[in-house]
Amino acid sequence: MLSMGEIMEKTSKKRHCNPDNRLFQSAAVIGLLGGALFLAAYIGISKTPFFGLSSKARVFTRNSSNSPDDRLQLDSILHYATSRVVPQQTLNEIRVSFDVLKAQSPCNFLVFGLGHDSLMWASLNPGGTTLFLEESSDWVDKVFKVAPYLQAHTVNYRTKLSDSDDLLKLYETEPDCFAENSFLRGNEKCKLALNVLPEEVYSKEWDLIMIDAPTAYFPEAPGRMAAIYSAAVMARNRKGSGATHVFLHDVNRKVERVYAETFLCRKNLVKSVGRLGHFKIPPSTDSKKHFC
Ligand SMILES: C[S@@+](CC[C@H](N)C(=O)[O-])C[C@H]1O[C@@H](n2cnc3c(N)ncnc32)[C@H](O)[C@@H]1O
Repeated sequence: MLSMGEIMEKTSKKRHCNPDNRLFQSAAVIGLLGGALFLAAYIGISKTPFFGLSSKARVFTRNSSNSPDDRLQLDSILHYATSRVVPQQTLNEIRVSFDVLKAQSPCNFLVFGLGHDSLMWASLNPGGTTLFLEESSDWVDKVFKVAPYLQAHTVNYRTKLSDSDDLLKLYETEPDCFAENSFLRGNEKCKLALNVLPEEVYSKEWDLIMIDAPTAYFPEAPGRMAAIYSAAVMARNRKGSGATHVFLHDVNRKVERVYAETFLCRKNLVKSVGRLGHFKIPPSTDSKKHFC
């Protein structure tokens, strides 16, 4: 069987990834994962229920080396220690969400897109829920062959990158898109709303949301418009205490920048590092049409 690194390498033609200094980045990622293991030991992962794609819930004890968390971390170390393919984000970009995860884990972490960083994100949240939403079922199958302890769902997007301007106009005129009554589940009229996600995505409150997908570099690609809009709605509709941390990659691109300014809002921008924007969005009950 091919290793995860080999499978990802073989299929990496599609990716627009140009990592600098891969050796340094691999060492850095291994360092981050070492930190995650330390964090896991510190937090303790005893009796952590695991809800995977299977509906069976399982309980593992602290000393078991067979818990999905333990296995995931071991897979992760082996993968990043042996793979020549590294995540797309730079070390400085990864550190932004790493620092928030260090403070918040175990937490609920929703990640748009499966990629070379998936094992890393899941390992950095020991005892928490890290769920991936991926557009390509083929890609999910490939990744799951070698990383079966990740949790992922496929998502069908109703958008195309080439429609990004029209979708902004729709937001101006369609009441079901307005901030004041924004909702996702079953929202047919607002095409920016991810309206048919698995129930788990709607029922959980997500502490962190990473948007590094779907694909958004050619006109027919789904673009990140719906992911950005839906992340903003999830954050605003949060009922629990605290804000939602939203990380958006590729904010240098026009569509990502405009949608970030429209839905994630400048006032919520915590920092911008490289091509990553970090937004902290508080719950909101504003009765306004606009998000910002
Ligand atoms: C811009 S990539 C983000 C990749 C990720 N952040 C990483 O570091 O690898 C987002 C999307 O590209 C697609 N993708 C990434 N790697 C792929 C591969 N090797 N083969 C096929 N599709 C891939 C997936 O659909 C994924 O959701």
